[in-house]
Amino acid sequence: MLDNYSKSKIVLITGASGVIGNSIVNLLSEDNNLKLLITGQNEVKLKYLKSELNNVLAYLAGDLIDYKFREKLISSFSEEFGGLDILINNAGIYTWSSIDNLQAEQIDKTLDLNLKAPIHLCHLISQGLKKKKWGRIINIGSISGSVGEANASLYSASKAGLIGLTKSLALELAEYGITINSISPGWVKSPLSESVFGDENNPLNEKDEIDCVPQKRWIEPSEIAHLVKFLISEPACGLTGQVINLCAGLSLG
Ligand SMILES: NC(=O)c1ccc[n+]([C@@H]2O[C@H](COP(=O)([O-])OP(=O)(O)OC[C@H]3O[C@@H](n4cnc5c(N)ncnc54)[C@H](OP(=O)(O)O)[C@@H]3O)[C@@H](O)[C@H]2O)c1
Repeated sequence: MLDNYSKSKIVLITGASGVIGNSIVNLLSEDNNLKLLITGQNEVKLKYLKSELNNVLAYLAGDLIDYKFREKLISSFSEEFGGLDILINNAGIYTWSSIDNLQAEQIDKTLDLNLKAPIHLCHLISQGLKKKKWGRIINIGSISGSVGEANASLYSASKAGLIGLTKSLALELAEYGITINSISPGWVKSPLSESVFGDENNPLNEKDEIDCVPQKRWIEPSEIAHLVKFLISEPACGLTGQVINLCAGLSLG
């Protein structure tokens, strides 16, 4: 299988069954030099993407909180397709809660998915990328990781952790031609953001939140996808360790 794709780049996208992941998969699938491997929990959605889109080679559904699934994901894809070139760490959950009401299991789940899974996936692919002397890693963070968000301290901490990962790994892997960057979106309409506004303890509704955004609008998933596409491209080879706030001005204060 490797010979067929040796000139192409193999891309793994997590959270492909979600709104932002779906948009990234759709855009990248238009490029015949990219061969996509996708994961998420919803097998039906993943299967549909593979059947509908060019260049989606395979999918594997599972729970990224489980470190054994992460190992299986990387080992099975590496065996079949000869190792990854590009990793898009996009899967994530939002936890809206005051610090008083946080449950211990929410802390574990949020940190496991939003932070530990990306760190572990980077670990699992780093040697392969170093051998190729080329690689791209994109972390989908959140502006909550840069500016803080009341009642989202856990989520914010998980996304702030991604910034540390991005900057430190960028230093460590720079000499191998590997770049790692983070995109920190503002509000995007998705089940994740809808869960915040649907919470009975949250007095803010969608309109209140969007009124706080300088451009008074949601970020479109395709805006994130286009930035991913640029960051994995050859012209972006000098961009590494950067955290880009794609937030319609929300991070400006
Ligand atoms: N929406 C926003 O306003 C916003 C703002 C800033 C940053 N972000 C970030 O953008 C990323 C994507 O969010 P989204 O808005 O596209 O949300 P979404 O539509 O809810 O998608 C979340 C994705 O994560 C996957 N996922 C959730 N739990 C998982 C688990 N335990 N194991 C494996 N995969 C799991 C979901 O898979 P299944 O659906 O198959 O379970 C889905 O593919 C997240 O990292 C989020 O923090 C979102």
